[in-house]
Amino acid sequence: MRRARLMVLIITGLLLMGVLSLTGSMAQENEYDLGHTDVFGSLRRPMVKFSHAVHSDSLVEAGCGVCHHSRDDKTGKLVYIEGQELSCKDCHDTQKENHKPALREAFHGSCTVCHRDMIKSDRSHTGPTTCGGCHKKV
Ligand code: HEC
Ligand code: HEC
Ligand code: HEC
Ligand code: HEC
Repeated sequence: MRRARLMVLIITGLLLMGVLSLTGSMAQENEYDLGHTDVFGSLRRPMVKFSHAVHSDSLVEAGCGVCHHSRDDKTGKLVYIEGQELSCKDCHDTQKENHKPALREAFHGSCTVCHRDMIKSDRSHTGPTTCGGCHKKV
């Protein structure tokens, strides 16, 4: 009887650990080195350092959906679904498809366009807009 209870405890413990490590692996990193050679092949520009932590903090009001989206199968519109933030390259590839930009244009359309828009409202609170500002030689 005791032994059976102990086994149940051990098994639920192991299951919990499995669940925790699964959710852990889906979480975002604080810092990304964006250098998707798997999509771009050899990079023509230096890879881009992106601080997820700085952006999430700085854009709390705007929310995760300013950068992350998925496509609603019913309406075909882009929507943000909490907990379903994927890597951009899971959908954006080397070539554009219909209205879906290629990966390079998806990044530039998100990163550069936001920085440029934000200059208009607050020049001291934005990110780089020049090639070398993001693609920094190390
Ligand atoms: C606000 C940041 C930002 C700015 C400004 C920017 N880029 Fe990028 N660019 C990125 C990111 C992020 C990627 C994706 C990098 C990756 O995953 O490899 C990228 C990808 C690329 C790629 C494809 C990957 C490669 O290296 O071959 C090229 C080419 C590129 N950018 C050229 C440019 C040029 C030219 C300019 C200036 C006109 C520019 N970028 C400005 C962020 C930026
Ligand atoms: C300024 C844009 C931006 C904001 C704001 C942002 N993210 Fe991200 N997030 C990214 C980029 C870029 C990546 C890296 C994508 C890649 O590797 O292609 C990423 C990666 C992730 C990943 C990992 C995806 C994977 O499968 O590798 C998760 C999870 C995530 N973000 C969740 C969030 C959540 C939750 C918030 C809001 C609290 C948030 N993000 C806010 C741009 C952003
Ligand atoms: C689940 C698939 C999916 C993921 C993941 C995804 N996208 Fe997209 N994205 C799309 C589709 C589909 C479109 C075209 C929508 C349309 O038909 O207008 C699009 C359009 C865009 C556009 C142009 C339209 C606009 O909103 O201005 C940009 C820029 C963009 N994506 C950036 C990103 C970035 C940056 C990431 C990662 C942080 C990302 N996408 C992740 C599917 C995705
Ligand atoms: C929705 C708006 C928005 C988007 C999208 C966005 N940024 Fe930014 N970025 C900002 C703001 C605001 C700051 C200033 C943050 C601060 O000082 O708190 C910033 C700062 C930066 C900086 C300088 C600070 C640092 O972390 O070193 C870099 C580099 C940068 N962004 C790169 C990127 C790249 C690469 C992407 C796309 C993957 C991106 N940003 C997407 C708004 C944005």
